[in-house]
Amino acid sequence: MKNTAFSRMLLKWHKEKNQRQMPWKGETDPYKVWLSEIILQQTRVQQGTAYYKSFIKTFPTIFDLAKAKDEKVYKLWEGLGYYSRCKNMLVTARFLAFEKNGNFPEHYEGLLKLKGIGPYTAAAIASFCFGLPKPVIDGNVYRVLARIFKIKLSPDSAEGKKYFTTLATDLIDKKDPGAYNQAIMDFGATVCKPALPLCGNCILQKNCGAFLENKVMAYPVKLKKMIKRERWFTYFVFHNNAKIFIQKRTAKDIWENLFEFYLIENKKPEKWTARKVQKFLVEKLNIQDAAEIVIHKPAKQILTHQLIHAVFIEIELAHTVHFHSQNEGKWISRKQLAQTSFPVIIRDHLENSIMLS
Ligand code: ADE
Ligand code: SF4
Repeated sequence: MKNTAFSRMLLKWHKEKNQRQMPWKGETDPYKVWLSEIILQQTRVQQGTAYYKSFIKTFPTIFDLAKAKDEKVYKLWEGLGYYSRCKNMLVTARFLAFEKNGNFPEHYEGLLKLKGIGPYTAAAIASFCFGLPKPVIDGNVYRVLARIFKIKLSPDSAEGKKYFTTLATDLIDKKDPGAYNQAIMDFGATVCKPALPLCGNCILQKNCGAFLENKVMAYPVKLKKMIKRERWFTYFVFHNNAKIFIQKRTAKDIWENLFEFYLIENKKPEKWTARKVQKFLVEKLNIQDAAEIVIHKPAKQILTHQLIHAVFIEIELAHTVHFHSQNEGKWISRKQLAQTSFPVIIRDHLENSIMLS
């Protein structure tokens, strides 16, 4: 179908049929749009809504957020995971509040320079708040475009991403980019759904390439995955007095000679609770003085032949413990951390670490 016809029909659907309600919809205050998009980056709308409301209530303006104590913000963030989002959010709030009078840059490139803001969030703020024709591209958008235009490239490939970005930029309604962006996301979430799309009720049915070929579920195209060996790691990240415990990987295995935290390898995914961690510490390591325990959401690292899942559990101890291992175990300072070689997943954790921030 013609590109202009697509955006026209989508906007018509948005105006007449879109029933989806979300508290940030139609919002043009950059602070609120930014907050909602940061929360929604790795979180479902349903869960994100409650967090959005409590953040807006507790911190009605960017100045309130910027002035808040870290602990208070982290506490409110609790349960959302990916703490680097929260950390970056605070950096940006304080930068804008204290150095820019609380104002967001009013163009895409400026937004993109802010910590924690990528192409997706920059496009959302640029279009919703400043009416700029920048397309948001998330999973919903990939799926809708892939089906309607029968796109044979996978959004998982670099080539596919580029193709979708060009197409989306071409399609966006230049008069009302914000409404267009909201429309396509809502359409993907409520009509052109991943598993059970409502094609029978869809206004684009007659123009939808995938539907006309009876191949809706073949889009978006997925990349063929190699079968990989899956492993589940639990890392106890012991902290004491601004020092952190690390040890060397010496076995003939992945990451040989790199450093890591205290490791437990599990045969299957392990569901940790603070109580279970306490019990493990007491029974297996004879540690009685864990002052604080923070269990992070699982992270993963994809290697050529293995998929590594890792749960990082930060533990603040009242004393340094000497772990009896042959693996060059040692307590090191923050400064030494920078000079030590770690696998990517550990480096990423250090970025996310609450106890180091
Ligand atoms: N997901 C992320 N941002 C969204 C928005 N503005 N509307 C619907 N879903 C979203
Ligand atoms: Fe999506 Fe089905 Fe509508 Fe095509 S006809 S756009 S696949 S809901």
